[in-house]
Amino acid sequence: MSYTRRSFLTAVGATGGAGALLATMGALGLAPTAEAATKTAFTPPQPSDFSLTGRAGKKVVILGAGIAGLTTAYELGKAGYDCTLLEARDRVGGRNWTIRNGDRLTELSGATQTARFAPETYMNAGPARLAQWMVTLDYCRELGVPVEVFTNSNAQAYIFHEAAGMTAPVRWRTAKADVYGYISELLATATDAGALNAKLTAQDKERLLSFLSSFGAIGGKSSGFAYTDNSRRGHSVDPGAGDQEGTLLGSVPSLSSVLASGVGQRFSFEFGYDQAMLMFQPVGGMDAIPMALAKAIGKHRIHTQSRATKITNLETGVEVEYQDKNGKTQLITADYCVAAMPPHILARTPHNLGADVQAALATPVPTNAGKIGLEYRRRWWETDENIYGGVTNTDLDLGTLWYPSSGYHQSTGLIVGYYNFGAQADAYAALSHAERERRAVEQGMKIHGAKYRDELKSSMSIAWKLQPHIEGAWVSWPSREGAYQLLNRPAGRVHFAGDWLSYMIAWQHGAIESARKTVTELHQRALKES
Ligand code: PHE
Repeated sequence: MSYTRRSFLTAVGATGGAGALLATMGALGLAPTAEAATKTAFTPPQPSDFSLTGRAGKKVVILGAGIAGLTTAYELGKAGYDCTLLEARDRVGGRNWTIRNGDRLTELSGATQTARFAPETYMNAGPARLAQWMVTLDYCRELGVPVEVFTNSNAQAYIFHEAAGMTAPVRWRTAKADVYGYISELLATATDAGALNAKLTAQDKERLLSFLSSFGAIGGKSSGFAYTDNSRRGHSVDPGAGDQEGTLLGSVPSLSSVLASGVGQRFSFEFGYDQAMLMFQPVGGMDAIPMALAKAIGKHRIHTQSRATKITNLETGVEVEYQDKNGKTQLITADYCVAAMPPHILARTPHNLGADVQAALATPVPTNAGKIGLEYRRRWWETDENIYGGVTNTDLDLGTLWYPSSGYHQSTGLIVGYYNFGAQADAYAALSHAERERRAVEQGMKIHGAKYRDELKSSMSIAWKLQPHIEGAWVSWPSREGAYQLLNRPAGRVHFAGDWLSYMIAWQHGAIESARKTVTELHQRALKES
């Protein structure tokens, strides 16, 4: 079929609506719509798909009430599917978990902590930041979940590299000024000396030098493009009134010691597509998302403390055996099943989906992550250090240290004293909670001093690999061939969903996109099969 450009646009407009028309125009370079292409297209199932064709909504059993399971039930429910969610834990949300006063956290060993926090204090034990392009924010809008800025990078926060010989933390702004400054000095010197003549015209050189002058705050040619102390690095006495012009920090480290400190390697994080400012968080805690989803789905459809014990694919349906909250074995049958559990837990659940599916489920490798929430009597990071949100990066086993992006100027507040992955998280997981707290405080004192110990009020720690029915923070795939591909297709009447089946693992965005893909495929199939 051949289209003129105009008839092609008209055809797209007729079937895809104005959004598709604009997106197509953007693709053809006719409209400034780069944004329209960032999310996977999704048309939720409509009630009319069934009612207008005289068909009845199908019955779907969904295993796991994390973000993927909840999104599946929410989207299918809009069209009149009869969904039942089975959740092994006593709450919905999965890894999306906000801990507040009175909440209990139990690990596989049976070790239990109970949160003793001020009423306004909360800790996002799992997901805590959303990029603006993520579909998660669309769900916040649709569900009426208010959001606020989450400060991911803050010039006022610190970098602390103990192994590089630092005895005190350096402010992010100071480290950045030094790295950008010296890199600019080097590049300007090389450019001016003609070292880059093969790559640059005379005009390029002039423009590059003018860029480097502002990028690095370096001196002119007469100074040898020297990088020297300047206000970007910060002040020991801030500028004020009258003749108080402020005092610069002084003692600029040498180029060689800036390189040796390794601080420059930190800055790429804030450039990341997933991590760049601005980022967002739901007001009052990340669990506002699963709470709103559960409410929209209908609580009567969600069975907590109900663990799937056997999945049987049948010719005309699916049968799931589960243990209910009283420990009784129950059977539920449905037309379809969506298994939205972690793959390594599914791999331990008896099923008849075949050896290939079993091998595929056992393929992704779980990673551990850990966090400790430290509640303080006083928001000393604000009052004493002028830090309002953001993250301090370290080479200590605590990984990163987060200051709260809410509750500013309140009387108390909660810092994330460690957020770490892999081996560092395993080291803390091996300890009792009291030992984790002691170790985290000991490490954090290197950055914040004695108040870090003395003003601590209470704490809660999580080791994701020790959380029952979850047993990991996220997974990694050795490859996206084979197993990943197989589980991105249904096995009989069992479909799969989860962030582990997306290219955005360890993000709610991935879980939601995977749920939407599964909902689309299941719905197309249900329309055919009924
Ligand atoms: N989404 C998680 C976080 O923001 C895990 C993650 C870390 C994912 C870093 C990608 C990069 O911390």
